[in-house]
Amino acid sequence: MKVLAIETSCDETAIAILEAHENNLKLLANIVSSQINKHKKFGGVVPEIASRYHTKNINYVLDKALLKSKTKLSELDAICVTSGPGLIGALLVGVSFAKALAYSLNIPLVEVHHIAGHIAANYLTHKNLKPPFISLVVSGGHSHIIQVSDYTSFKVLAKTRDDAVGEAFDKVARQIGLDYPGGPNLSKLAKKGKATYKLPTTRFEDSLDFSFSGIKTSVINLIHKEGEKLNKANLCKSFEENVTNVLLEHSKEILVMKGQKEFTLAGGVSANITLRKKALKMGKENDINVYLPDKKYTTDNAAMIAVAGYYNFINHKNICDLTLNAKASINI
Ligand code: KG4
Ligand code: ZN
Repeated sequence: MKVLAIETSCDETAIAILEAHENNLKLLANIVSSQINKHKKFGGVVPEIASRYHTKNINYVLDKALLKSKTKLSELDAICVTSGPGLIGALLVGVSFAKALAYSLNIPLVEVHHIAGHIAANYLTHKNLKPPFISLVVSGGHSHIIQVSDYTSFKVLAKTRDDAVGEAFDKVARQIGLDYPGGPNLSKLAKKGKATYKLPTTRFEDSLDFSFSGIKTSVINLIHKEGEKLNKANLCKSFEENVTNVLLEHSKEILVMKGQKEFTLAGGVSANITLRKKALKMGKENDINVYLPDKKYTTDNAAMIAVAGYYNFINHKNICDLTLNAKASINI
């Protein structure tokens, strides 16, 4: 069967077409139109601008996906779409477009949770990966450790109580004058530095939840205190070391506690090279199989939504009628 997926939850207008049979997944097209350059001058995503560019770009992205995959609309079996969480106006463009396509083609409409999509990116990279496993989902909006029991069942085991880790990367980067999106730029500068600055970590007594607002505030205070003396590369390295250690320490404790031996990374921050290296090391030291998503599927894309949507569809989950609405926040 062939499914088409749409992702517009933030600043990427993305459409993918997937051909799938049981667990054989063949990606026929994966078109991502990024708006990063439109938002850069504002230092972050401006929701209203994001919605407008999704509206402007989505027909073009669809045409490109159909052309690339040599697929006719009449060959599609289902339309999958990210319905949340994300920027409400941005999501609405994708959801409305998906509803119109499904209605006009008279085929099922399948809603996909954005995080389920990030997790499903791993199935594209690792053909042998099957649930159950534990996933560390780290992006601009999420820092979750999730038990993936099967293709459509998820349980949150730990999450951030304030900022997401990607948000912390972006905010720290902005404070030291790096362009949006700060994460990759901060990581680049960190390669030239040493972890000389001591930064705090937050640990709750009663859970393995995360908190990144404390480290963000400490970094801002440090920037003001150091002034001209600040070594930006060392600060980037210190920050990156600190947060990646915390993410993997909590993940390891949960893996050991649950006796789970399969671990995946997911989400935009899983492109981070330090996090990837440390995850592999943690796996080696603790006899845990670590699966890293291909870098091109870490940040927002529709290929991951197509995979998650396909599994929803064949498991008769999240099939919607035309009352489907976008949701800015929604539990997985
Ligand atoms: O998954 P994603 O594209 O969008 C959300 O669902 O939020 O993640 C975007 C986030 C941004 O905060 C960005 O700075 C971060 O992922 N990111 C990185 C790297 N690449 C992207 N953070 C650290 N290191 C990277 N290499
Ligand atoms: Zn995302």
